[in-house]
Amino acid sequence: MAAASEAPLPAADTKPVRLTGLAALRLGFDFAREPLIATRRAHEAFGPFVMLDRALPLVRAKHTVMLGVPLVLTAGAAFHAELLSDTDTWRGVSLLPGGPRGSAARRIGSGLTRLTGEKHTHYRKLVLQPLRRGAVEVVAGRMARIAEAEVASWPLGEAIDLWHYVRRIMRRLALDLLFGGENEESGAIADLVSVLMERKWGTGAFALPLDLPFTTYGRIVRDAAELERRMLEWVAEKRGRPDARDLAAIIVNSADADGRPPDEAAIVGQLASLFAASSEASQSALTWTLFLLIAHPRVAADLRDEVRQKLGAGAAALERAAELAYLDAVVKESMRLLPPVPIQLRVAQCDTTIAGHPVPNNTRVMLNTFLTNRAGELYPQGDAFRPERWSALAPSMFEFPVFSAGPHACPGYWFGSLAVKIALAAILARCRMELPPGARVDYAVQPTFRPRRRLAVVLRRADDGKPAAAAIAGTIRDLVRFP
Ligand code: HEM
Repeated sequence: MAAASEAPLPAADTKPVRLTGLAALRLGFDFAREPLIATRRAHEAFGPFVMLDRALPLVRAKHTVMLGVPLVLTAGAAFHAELLSDTDTWRGVSLLPGGPRGSAARRIGSGLTRLTGEKHTHYRKLVLQPLRRGAVEVVAGRMARIAEAEVASWPLGEAIDLWHYVRRIMRRLALDLLFGGENEESGAIADLVSVLMERKWGTGAFALPLDLPFTTYGRIVRDAAELERRMLEWVAEKRGRPDARDLAAIIVNSADADGRPPDEAAIVGQLASLFAASSEASQSALTWTLFLLIAHPRVAADLRDEVRQKLGAGAAALERAAELAYLDAVVKESMRLLPPVPIQLRVAQCDTTIAGHPVPNNTRVMLNTFLTNRAGELYPQGDAFRPERWSALAPSMFEFPVFSAGPHACPGYWFGSLAVKIALAAILARCRMELPPGARVDYAVQPTFRPRRRLAVVLRRADDGKPAAAAIAGTIRDLVRFP
């Protein structure tokens, strides 16, 4: 094994490099445009621990811009270990927007990632019921049938938007297997949650936090109210009908953290964030794995051989996808190279320290999984897609923080991993993909790693022709070294 599994602590002499004034503003501006490249450059120039003091546009709390509170950029397992282990001091942020006091937008932003202490333990235990390994293994057969049926409807011979088609599979798996079934209402709720996430992370809405008819922030406030209304109507039917496989039925029929029947704010806060977390990261993982396979035809051919020889055809075979060693290595390598959640945010709850250096209350820290996953000593040639490396690797969760680590580590690990593997095997069994001539692949971080615009691929029958290496243009070339 090449890697230790113990979490390292920051070396006592890891000193922050402080950037102020113009230098801090310039990095803040670059970061807003292209976060992964900006942080990589900062890391190369200044090391793994950079403090931006007075980085005006990026730092705000309670709708006031705060001066003098640093934004800290970190990379490396040691920082992940220090911050993710101390959840009393370092709070996570919501995927959903937040908004004015007393608004639905504020209520939908109060899910698991923001909770601490006993409240967090209480809801995490509830949420884990259908997400534990044993519970997920029980639904593997249904997962395989759903994935196979979805892929059977993909139009061979045509160009499709890969992000959109993968979304259909991942959303259906989540709604059918974790939210009591996909139907018009649960589908509309999932759509509204996605729109709100896009508005929070893709539009700069919080630069002008004014609730007016024409501002993005105003639309967030109105959409959140609509989401809350629909969600409460939808869960009303689940009251009095406990179901350990349905996250909504679990939340609505369980006491809250104080032992009282859950009020509307608690229900909406938990469910909105569960919808947000349940399919988009898996969608990102599967989309980029398929893209990397298009760009690496030899890996794709080896993987297809493994699927054919070890699984054969049909849903009964697909449900065993987790047993395939090369498929496991391909998915891990894809998530290492292009992590579905490339940057994690943490906010200090009090005056504290990082690697022994004092930082004030409210300091924002970016834990950079994208860079940690490229640490040279563990992952040589970090920009290259080399699934083979996983035959000799067993990193700790801090060294490979794709699902985060510590008390807030992703509870959807088993469900998400199995869903991605089964869907990937189902796709490989039926289709081969090509990029159309002149295709450009640009990425965005919102906060999941996703294509910036339509990701067009042409679908072929699995055994139709021989795949050739594709010429790839676009910003993705800044992150991956293609053959
Ligand atoms: C490949 C798939 C997935 C990846 C890569 C992934 C990744 C992550 C990451 C990095 C976090 C930490 C976020 C942070 O603290 O900033 C997280 C948290 C979380 N994930 Fe996932 N996730 C995946 C699938 C899922 C699925 C299927 C669910 C199902 C509901 C889920 C539910 C959650 C929840 C509830 C949290 C918050 C946990 C807490 O704060 O205690 N995830 N995930």
